[in-house]
Amino acid sequence: MTSPSELDPFETHTGRPRSMPAPPPPSPPPAFDNTEAAPVYARFTDTDTMTLPPDPFIARPASRSAGITAQNVSAWFGDHKVLERVSLDMAPNRVTALIGPSGCGKSTFLRILNRMHELVHGAALAGVVELGGTDIYRGNLPVTETRRRIGMVFQKPNPFPTMTIAENVVSGLKLSGMKSTRSYAEIVEDCLVQAGLWNEVRNRLAAPGGSLSGGQQQRLCIARALAVEPHVLLMDEPCSALDPTSTRRIEETIAEICERITVVIVTHNMQQAQRVSQSCAFFLAGENEPGRIVESGPTERLFSEPEDTRTLDYVRGRFG
Ligand SMILES: Nc1ncnc2c1ncn2[C@@H]1O[C@H](COP(=O)(O)OP(=O)(O)O)[C@@H](O)[C@H]1O
Ligand SMILES: [Mg+2]
Repeated sequence: MTSPSELDPFETHTGRPRSMPAPPPPSPPPAFDNTEAAPVYARFTDTDTMTLPPDPFIARPASRSAGITAQNVSAWFGDHKVLERVSLDMAPNRVTALIGPSGCGKSTFLRILNRMHELVHGAALAGVVELGGTDIYRGNLPVTETRRRIGMVFQKPNPFPTMTIAENVVSGLKLSGMKSTRSYAEIVEDCLVQAGLWNEVRNRLAAPGGSLSGGQQQRLCIARALAVEPHVLLMDEPCSALDPTSTRRIEETIAEICERITVVIVTHNMQQAQRVSQSCAFFLAGENEPGRIVESGPTERLFSEPEDTRTLDYVRGRFG
């Protein structure tokens, strides 16, 4: 049985009164049946030192895009199961939108896709995630390389405020130690063009990142994410803090980059999901239950003739 002190952080997070009955025995192992893949517990691995497998995408310079597949992914924070056997194919060169009410595990799922979930103390997961056919948890891909190939843009733009715009763009590149045949100046321009920001900042590349508007900062973060040449870009509500004009600019950027990169975007904006995505997955968590995918498929079908009435109710704005 877990001691109360072990449960403290979790209880603080959920606001669950401590007087509530103790939950069922926590990991290890959480309640599994035999069909669930062995859990991968949160840990820092030493795989960073492993040799990289040959990059299967290098032969296709026009598109680095690789599909990402989740099979039976479950997730826990301590003893709290928040995702239940989520399976989803996120096809290359497409935009997949994840929709669903708050708290149903969309952000957790995104963080599992690029191995950030394991950075949370006490977090655990089960299931398989494959990038271009390589298991990112059990294969040879070092965790830093996984995170380079699968980039992330967050809800709140997080550029380095005192670094210049140009330095911001190449900061991830420098940190990762990636070698490039191109000069930093070329990369800065190319990534800012791709992120739809070049024309607005070309004459002030030495200005601090913090001097930009919110929408520009978000596009700067996209440029920074693109500089390390990801195969997949995960975007967690990237426009929720932005005005309509900035939102439109980001949507244009998504439409452009998805020709080369697989994009997975969480959005609470149903119009946005329909505008930007070709595939869509609807997540839902029942009361005191982990989040599941109710249904997934082509965005058009999910919004016009979903199989499940709960999907219809959600996309019509009847709840959530
Ligand atoms: N760091 C954390 N520690 C404990 N519980 C968490 C943590 N992050 C999220 N959760 C819980 O996991 C569940 C799913 O959260 P989240 O993935 O953020 O959902 P969504 O993005 O759909 O709003 C929620 O019940 C939330 O309270
Ligand atoms: Mg979220």
